[in-house]
Amino acid sequence: MERWHPVSVLSDIGRGEVVGVRVEGHEIVLWREDVPGATVHAWEDRCPHRGMRLSFGFVRDGALGCLYHGWQFGGTARCRLIPAHPNVRVPAAIQVRAYAVREQAGLAWVSLEGAEDFPAGLSGQWSRVMPVRSVHVAVGVALLRHALGMPADETMIWCGPVGLAVHAPVAGHAILHVVRAHGPGLSASALSHWAERLRDGVESGSDTAPIMEELAMGARP
Ligand code: FES
Repeated sequence: MERWHPVSVLSDIGRGEVVGVRVEGHEIVLWREDVPGATVHAWEDRCPHRGMRLSFGFVRDGALGCLYHGWQFGGTARCRLIPAHPNVRVPAAIQVRAYAVREQAGLAWVSLEGAEDFPAGLSGQWSRVMPVRSVHVAVGVALLRHALGMPADETMIWCGPVGLAVHAPVAGHAILHVVRAHGPGLSASALSHWAERLRDGVESGSDTAPIMEELAMGARP
């Protein structure tokens, strides 16, 4: 379980969009082709040409283009076009490092080690899960886990229809991802405000038990 990191809510990676995230200090670009049903790609956020961040790039014709010199990388992570030399056959060795990625429970999950054993049951008992938002919390991930009542070996818990997932972008910082099952319960807007208050409580070191209790109350039918 620990080898899969929830790195983003899926609503932050729309069709044709490019997003940069960090996981334990590793810089990763997430992007999605601009076609219906396109899946998310997760690559090292570094162009193999001169090291430009690919998260500054753009999606065009089913490829991620680097902002600097426009090299284009197709869905397999191989370079397919060098615009300055359009007639040159690009060597297969020119490619970006790709990470294993899955879309589950309203979230994008990345494995830095290329794990194949994706955990089952992340969506809990819910068949339809909607992303709400991600919130940066300026504390270590262990402190955020403690506030959420999340076991140290878990990355996601459910409080009724509300799913809470955490990952560490860098040491001393955490990201809280909030998702909710489709149906009655707290609205996405209410959950968004709730997440901000939880963040403020955790960062200020105040007792967050009452804030967590609000979530439990809101989850009741
Ligand atoms: S640095 Fe990316 S194309 Fe040159």
